[in-house]
Amino acid sequence: MASESLDKIRLSGDVPNHVAIIMDGNGRWAKQKGFPRQVGHREGMKSVRETIEGAAEAGINILTLFAFSTENWNRPRKEVASLMSLLRYYARKERDSLKHQGVEVHVLGEIERFDDQTREAVDLIVRGTKGGQSLRLNLMISYGGREEILRSVRTLAEQVDQGELTVDDIDEDALRKTLFTVNLPDPDLLIRTSGEYRISNFMLWQIAYTELHITPVLWPDFSREHLFEAVLDYQRRDRRFGLVGTS
Ligand code: IPE
Ligand code: IPE
Ligand code: MG
Repeated sequence: MASESLDKIRLSGDVPNHVAIIMDGNGRWAKQKGFPRQVGHREGMKSVRETIEGAAEAGINILTLFAFSTENWNRPRKEVASLMSLLRYYARKERDSLKHQGVEVHVLGEIERFDDQTREAVDLIVRGTKGGQSLRLNLMISYGGREEILRSVRTLAEQVDQGELTVDDIDEDALRKTLFTVNLPDPDLLIRTSGEYRISNFMLWQIAYTELHITPVLWPDFSREHLFEAVLDYQRRDRRFGLVGTS
């Protein structure tokens, strides 16, 4: 798709390798239009499709989407059920097209909490897209940053207990290897939609030096142009990582 912003992104050259998105605002989008919240979630799937295509066009290599948090399990049962059913629908419907686009899907989170049907659907999309070369897509589902770190701490403690590791071996690298994200590079850019200035338990370890872009756009209205705007915003940043700046 021809786009002025895409041209500008390419001219600048410094495209973020890894972009993560907190996809928020489905419920408010639906409410504004007088629909039940589920309609907002369904509509949000179009934005997922749009964003994946846009990410590939912009030359982003890794896209991480926060779709369902640990805390979201505590929403009303009906809403949780409808989100799980949407996930199964998405996995079955999009698998072939994602494979065709060269997207390799990974699902990160406490998937053991899913029911059998949902786990099978997730398995299918992961296995069916393995080897995709154009974009790595991480769907963060049943994911919480604190739980992720807690699991790592337990794993490392077990390894020490078993004599596989000493306390001195526990460094950033050792911890990183036990996270859901394992060897993935940290996100360069984190986008949150719906105008909320908070992290909501997302990738607490990984976003230490990630650039943040908050947009008031509600997730179902998010298009590839909004993604390109976020990338352009990122390209104007001076990333210092605690060192002395270049400008
Ligand atoms: C984001 O939209 C999707 C999920 C968290 C599953 P919300 O459902 O949080 O929508 P708002 O924030 O209530 O508008
Ligand atoms: C964050 O959104 C989780 C996802 C987008 C999946 P929430 O809607 O759950 O977060 P809060 O409640 O606004 O902090
Ligand atoms: Mg929300």
